[in-house]
Amino acid sequence: MTGRTAAPEYIVGVTGATGAIYAQRLLQWLVRREGLVVHVVCSAMAFKIIEIELRRKPRRGRRLRVEDWVAPRSEWRAAVREWEDTNFMAPVASGSHRVEGMAVVPCSMRALASIDMGLGDNLIHRAADCCLKEHRRLVLVPRESPLTPAHLEQMARLAHQGVTILTPDPAWYTHPRTLDDFVDQIAMKVCDHLDLPPDVERRWGG
Ligand SMILES: Cc1cc2nc3c(=O)[nH]c(=O)nc-3n(C[C@H](O)[C@H](O)[C@H](O)COP(=O)(O)O)c2cc1C
Repeated sequence: MTGRTAAPEYIVGVTGATGAIYAQRLLQWLVRREGLVVHVVCSAMAFKIIEIELRRKPRRGRRLRVEDWVAPRSEWRAAVREWEDTNFMAPVASGSHRVEGMAVVPCSMRALASIDMGLGDNLIHRAADCCLKEHRRLVLVPRESPLTPAHLEQMARLAHQGVTILTPDPAWYTHPRTLDDFVDQIAMKVCDHLDLPPDVERRWGG
């Protein structure tokens, strides 16, 4: 016995709903944290939304990387693994690969429906399915308004399976003053539900 334990691994799936900034903030916290392995999977539409909302352009025709839209590599303390959403050979496509939890931020209605139905038709949906079947933490940050009965029923079914449906709504009683305060609140809540203590100084805007 060496007493060493494997670094805890987390997956962040980013889909093409509006709200790329929530994924950016969550990942800024995670990648700067020592001792974690962070798997990042973006859908094709997520890349489009990142381009539009975060005003990032892929360099030399290659797709955007975490260092382009989250934080420069020099700031990474975690081990960051990026996977194409079509790559079913990625370790996180298998339930036997141990992860502590997964967040889908923001979560499109397409991803919500696919996860609810267990389709596993891209790596985000498949990794989420693995979390469900292995009873691991799964946090979805759905973004749509207004919601249809199908959206609500899908969310309810997932919530009954233990999934955290975390809508990106601010707590106004904390008096968020800036967009940063607002976004921090949501990222902090996602960390809480992944059982990861977030950046304490930012907690509740304190
Ligand atoms: C600017 C823009 C904003 C969008 N916002 C949302 C949204 O908030 N929620 C949503 O479910 N879909 C939204 N969509 C549509 C999704 O991108 C689309 O349904 C896509 O198929 C999602 O695929 P993905 O889950 O693989 O990313 C938006 C699309 C665009 C271009």
